Amino acid sequence: MLKSIRARLTLTYIFLILAVMGVISVFLLNMLENYYLDYQKETMENSANLVAEIAASFMHREAELLILSTMAEDMARQINARVIIVDRQGMVLGDSQRVGGFFGRILLRPEIDAALAGETGSSVQYSQTLEQQVMQVAVPVMVEGDIRGAVFLSASLQNIYDNLLGMVRRFIITATLLALVLVGFLAALMAKTFTTPIEDLTAAARQMTAGNLKQDIPVRSEDEIGQLTRQFNLMSAKVLETNRQLREFVANASHELRTPLTTINLLVDSLRDFDEDPKIREEFLGDIHGETQRLIDLVSDLLDLARLDEQENKKSPQKPLNLVELIRGVVQAVSSRIERQGLTLDYREQSDNLPVLANADELKQVLNNLLDNALKYTEGGGCIRVEVRGGAREAFVAVADTGCGIPSEDLEKVFERFYRVDKARSREQGGTGLGLSICRELIAKHEGEMWAESQEGKGSTFYFVLPLLDVKKD
Ligand SMILES: Nc1ncnc2c1ncn2[C@@H]1O[C@H](COP(=O)(O)OP(=O)(O)OP(=O)(O)O)[C@@H](O)[C@H]1O
Ligand SMILES: [Mg+2]
Repeated sequence: MLKSIRARLTLTYIFLILAVMGVISVFLLNMLENYYLDYQKETMENSANLVAEIAASFMHREAELLILSTMAEDMARQINARVIIVDRQGMVLGDSQRVGGFFGRILLRPEIDAALAGETGSSVQYSQTLEQQVMQVAVPVMVEGDIRGAVFLSASLQNIYDNLLGMVRRFIITATLLALVLVGFLAALMAKTFTTPIEDLTAAARQMTAGNLKQDIPVRSEDEIGQLTRQFNLMSAKVLETNRQLREFVANASHELRTPLTTINLLVDSLRDFDEDPKIREEFLGDIHGETQRLIDLVSDLLDLARLDEQENKKSPQKPLNLVELIRGVVQAVSSRIERQGLTLDYREQSDNLPVLANADELKQVLNNLLDNALKYTEGGGCIRVEVRGGAREAFVAVADTGCGIPSEDLEKVFERFYRVDKARSREQGGTGLGLSICRELIAKHEGEMWAESQEGKGSTFYFVLPLLDVKKD
């Protein structure tokens, strides 16, 4: 039972109330007890002084014992206390308790000793004979400035303890019980407001574990639990999206793999029929070679992506290198292909040393991909421009062409895996739509950024920036 937060919270509140009420009652009872004992003492002192004044007139020379005893009895009845009058030696001259009293005996009491010394003596103690708390007060009897004896009063405190303090105790107990019921109820209610969202979260997490990834828990508050719920919902959406992307990726990849395989299958079948004709056979074999090359390219792109996903937190080795030299090398390597396609190359470098921390192979792959696209999507007679320059903190590279361009609604999508603007044309060109997504991920790994600008029918420019080595953050 104590395992639940609700039970623990409720119990904590109950203990708190008990502790508070306990402390209050101890202080309150103590204060009241002291107050009433003081009050009782003062009353008894006044009564004792009154008795002493009256007794004084009967203790001039010879003490008038009978009168003193009768007076003690009368006073005792009035003030509800035992009254004893003693002489200077402590011998009892009058006792309100006639039967079994102390009459004629010497009474030795510290209070009487104090009174005979001219002071007021008092005490509170437990009386064995009465089996209850009693208060005793003694005052001197003065005759013409002389101490002639003392008046000793003893009264039960039972009334105070039974009635007054008992009543207060009962009041505190009732109040405590009421507070407990109320607080117990409120605590349970409050605990419920805490635990309900947590229970919701647990249930949703259980659902997700069972495979039901779409979870949307109502956010009931703006506190920490509310924030947790909000984050949980975001996490659920993210997991759902990642899962969707993964499924889509597998479906796309399978589709892309199946297309050339089906073509190869058909070509092999047809080859059997046209086995006699060497010209057709040669043509078919060429096609089969083309399709297998496509498969190899696709699989190597897929492997690149798998490697990138795996290395998301792990970098491939990077070394300081001169970006300008690297780009110059790649451009030189493709320049003959550019010419062969009847295009002109416009290469501009505005600096000859731009140091970056990078993986040379990966940067070459990015540049080759961009140039490959520019070549694929630009008709003869066009121009391919490559530009490299340095900014204050970063190196800036642009690969532009005067090709078919990309419609603005597709401009961001071209960086998605398998996305191709014109599927038929791209496939004809041997593209699978993975090149740019690989490029962007590679640049991101270098803490850089990649984006594109394009005008349909006029051409496209792909940009990327890389942080320069001496200002790199880490
Ligand atoms: N320079 C460009 N001009 C016009 N369209 C482009 C250009 N570069 C990319 N695209 C469009 O963006 C799409 C995605 O490019 P991406 O490089 O990712 O794939 P691909 O070139 O089709 O195939 P892959 O690079 O995987 O062989 C292309 O299919 C094409 O439609
Ligand atoms: Mg490409």
